[in-house]
Amino acid sequence: MPNDKFLKACVIGWPIKHSRSPLIHNYWLKKYGILGIYEKVAVPPDELPLFIKNLSANGFEGCNVTIPHKESVFVHVEVTDAVTRQIGAVNTVYFEDKKQYGLNTDGYGFISNLKSMVPSWNSEGKTCAILGAGGASRAIIAILLNEGVKKIFLVNRTKPRAQNLAREFGDKVIPIGFDEIEIPLSNADLLVNTTSLGMVGQPSLDISLDFLPPNCVVYDIVYDPLETNLLKQAKDKNLQTVDGLGMLLHQAVPGFEKWFGVRPQVTDDLKALLVADLMKDKEQ
Ligand code: ATR
Repeated sequence: MPNDKFLKACVIGWPIKHSRSPLIHNYWLKKYGILGIYEKVAVPPDELPLFIKNLSANGFEGCNVTIPHKESVFVHVEVTDAVTRQIGAVNTVYFEDKKQYGLNTDGYGFISNLKSMVPSWNSEGKTCAILGAGGASRAIIAILLNEGVKKIFLVNRTKPRAQNLAREFGDKVIPIGFDEIEIPLSNADLLVNTTSLGMVGQPSLDISLDFLPPNCVVYDIVYDPLETNLLKQAKDKNLQTVDGLGMLLHQAVPGFEKWFGVRPQVTDDLKALLVADLMKDKEQ
């Protein structure tokens, strides 16, 4: 859909140097022939309220929000949806009817990637095991409950943190420590790693997958490396696997559509572009 107006959006964070969002959105702008740009803006915490207030006046259709601003922006926007309120953090800001909207699309990105990689997936009535109890885990719990899962075992090194998070979501979320991991694993339809274990520069996640049922899907939200030790182990057992790169790409879709008016596709070409960029970092 050609546009006459030059459209601008951005990603804000502090620091912002490493964000890959410009690569994704500028690829789509070019692909769909949209006149516009997606920029990176470093916004220090004390300048955040003013930046968000003046976003539209400064010519932006909206923005993505990354660390450390997601929770602060949640407080500043005028309208949110139920999943975003449950997460308490915003990663996408846009305008509609002169109002400023804040969305959290991490959960959306998680579930869209799962459905695209495992087309037969249906969350209804499923039992899930989620490793980790940080911000990513919170977004994934919110979306999985919203999609109708029956039970979530929330496994965390620091059990009180899992207990606190589980309390926010009610009876369907059961907090446990890593020492009790056999129970969730032997019942899981979906195993998700949301911890930083397995990420480049971090220790690997060493758990035995022997207890997993043969139809369990193993999902690692880590995307660097693309194939973590967890996914390699799962593939060796012929389990279906999902890597984290698609989540990064799918979470970008709703923002692009709101700002630029086209619902973009997550394609193999785009994935290849991101993989090449990850490789480039390693060569430096
Ligand atoms: P995010 O917001 O990206 O989810 P986070 O809030 O820093 O990140 O959470 C990181 C998660 O990785 C936590 O669940 C953390 O466990 P703790 O709550 O016990 O800290 C988990 N994690 C990080 N390093 C770990 C390690 N070496 N062993 C086990 N879990 C680890």
